[in-house]
Amino acid sequence: MLKLYAATLKKYKLYLIAFDLTLTQTEVNISGMNKLEESLNKIAELRKTIEYHNKRYYQQDAPEISDAEYDRLMRQLQELENQYPDDDIASSPTQRVGAAPLAKFASFSHPSAMLSLANAFSNDEIIEFDSRLKRLAGVDSISYIAEPKLDGLAVNLIYENGLFTKGATRGDGATGEDVTQNLKTISSLPLKIKNAGNKAIPSFIEIRGEVYMESEPFHKLNRRRIDEGEEPFANPRNAAAGSLRQLDSKITARRPLNIFLYGIGNIHGINFSTHWEVLQTLSGWGFPVNKFIERVQDINACIRYFEHIGARRKSLPYEIDGIVLKVNDLSLQETLGNVSRNPRWALACKYPAAQETTIIKNIEVQVGRMGTLTPVAIMEPVNVGGVMVSRATLHNEDEIIKKDIRIGDTVVIQRAGDVIPEVVKVIPEKRTGKEKKFKMPKTCPECNSEIVRFEGEVAHRCVNISCPAQLKEHIRHFASRSAMDIEGLGERLSAQLFDTKLIADPADLYFLTKDKLLELDRQADKSAQNLIDSIARSKKPQLDKFIYALGIRHVGERTAKLLAARFGSMENLIKAKIEDLTAVNEIGPEIASSIVEFFHEGKNIDVMKKFSKAGVIPQKKEVSNNVPLAGKSFVFTGTMEGMGRTAAKEIIESLGGTVHSSVTKKTTYVVTGDDPGSKLDKAKSSGIKIISEKEFLKLIGRKTS
Ligand code: IVH
Repeated sequence: MLKLYAATLKKYKLYLIAFDLTLTQTEVNISGMNKLEESLNKIAELRKTIEYHNKRYYQQDAPEISDAEYDRLMRQLQELENQYPDDDIASSPTQRVGAAPLAKFASFSHPSAMLSLANAFSNDEIIEFDSRLKRLAGVDSISYIAEPKLDGLAVNLIYENGLFTKGATRGDGATGEDVTQNLKTISSLPLKIKNAGNKAIPSFIEIRGEVYMESEPFHKLNRRRIDEGEEPFANPRNAAAGSLRQLDSKITARRPLNIFLYGIGNIHGINFSTHWEVLQTLSGWGFPVNKFIERVQDINACIRYFEHIGARRKSLPYEIDGIVLKVNDLSLQETLGNVSRNPRWALACKYPAAQETTIIKNIEVQVGRMGTLTPVAIMEPVNVGGVMVSRATLHNEDEIIKKDIRIGDTVVIQRAGDVIPEVVKVIPEKRTGKEKKFKMPKTCPECNSEIVRFEGEVAHRCVNISCPAQLKEHIRHFASRSAMDIEGLGERLSAQLFDTKLIADPADLYFLTKDKLLELDRQADKSAQNLIDSIARSKKPQLDKFIYALGIRHVGERTAKLLAARFGSMENLIKAKIEDLTAVNEIGPEIASSIVEFFHEGKNIDVMKKFSKAGVIPQKKEVSNNVPLAGKSFVFTGTMEGMGRTAAKEIIESLGGTVHSSVTKKTTYVVTGDDPGSKLDKAKSSGIKIISEKEFLKLIGRKTS
């Protein structure tokens, strides 16, 4: 018996010694080891469970448990880890997310400088690079490593005795920002080097790589931002940089960031002889290394690689802007050295981007639904990669200052990631002296109210909730297809109704008459009648559509659905307190306070009253107060034959119950399908009611066949 325990617990020898000091041998065997083993098993189980929920919440946007439940699991794990710190603690989920938001980033001096790369734009330049190196090194041929050049942002990671201790952005190459806590949220980044036996783990190493966002999750993130009234990111690189540079690491954790590692800086204790060996070792240690990296024998093979990867570029799940060639032999790299900030031994070979030159005729400022001011360049129309472009977002004032963009400038623009065109750079040689600097207005271009820039935000905002630009946008949003779906009420008509003072807010739409509409310019009898009809048709909206239509900050379509399902009526939602809101899966404190503030604002209360007076009655939904499964909690184990888990979860929740992934004292039922797992044993030993799939279906009122 003792032998068996000893074998299982070999890893935890130290504890046994520690226990030995305080307990007698028999006590250790009987109670100490049992408790220890139990705790260590529990730690392993909790880590797995939390990792699973991290993925559901942060990456798949589909959490299965409430925040409160998640916090409870995390606390439990933390407590156990405090009592029994083990070898794997460095890579435990407790180390990834959870630090408090920072006031600002600390700066970080890179132990060895982070260099940048010289660029080549043609095959001739690539051949020239190789000839130069051969000449300098006095050799006939050089072999290279060819790597895709990802378009993200470079980071430097410090590992001490195998543990990730610090991570920073490149900054100016000498000093960057300490983004350790944010880097830890990238699940593919090992917090501890895996000892794969391929190479001893160094006491200190700087590992370099690129943080990036894949195209598909990038578009999804942008869709969500637009939905929630926020500015979309111009391209995946900005999205990756913006996400990594968040002071609150919980926000970073929700962003789909990835990382590839491609090099090292200072290293103590071990040596490498080729760059290929570095990459192989990094991969063996558990770091993500791009699978398209190849050893290439000479420069002709490099050019073939450049063309081959170029042809596959569109089918890659992430954006690359070129390839990087690096001399494979590290001693040759050292001999070649650097020229200013570029290593002589590496070259970035760039693919041509869809870019064009044009002139900025003016810079306008747009006011969005949430009051954000966005400067927009109005340009001479130009064809960029097959699309005519005449407007480009300049994002914010900082961006304009950074790129020194002036009205009248000739600029290079590009369509990055097929999204919104952006200004890459100004061509200063084309300046005539007549160009005008842009200044962000001090007051809102629409309502003259003061413009505010909140601390920590790059955006300027008009904070007047009655700002006409915001209100017009707000009315357009209210009437849009995914909200109240009022046919015929688009951007132009929303603005016209507002400007002619026929309406001041969305509720006024319901007091419009055909006669009033006919007073408008170019308003035909038939279309006036159609609009009145479609407004009338929208009077009994689904509750979630109505909540979404209200345009509450951070409440997109999905959140609106969750709110409708949980609160069932506008009355209940208006009454909800912060804690009632945060008790809903996926709703955090920021969304919750935005909702509470919205319903406390006097103007909004008046608008809500007007809706009632007009007879706008969102349809109520049944909720948990009078439903059969209120307060009942379910756990599933094994495969169900008749119904998927997602469907089962939806039904349970619609009947007021909850679904959890692990069995606790609070579990009411464990539902067993085919081939149940350890949850069944746990249920048995804890005396929790176990029901079959058939019994479950009966319980939720479904027929079984
Ligand atoms: S090597 C001295 N390898 O490109 C070596 N850089 O223009 C410096 N990049 O700052 C970097 N993929 O952000 C290297 N496979 C790769 C890369 C890569 C992307 C970025 C990196 C760097 C920039 C240089």
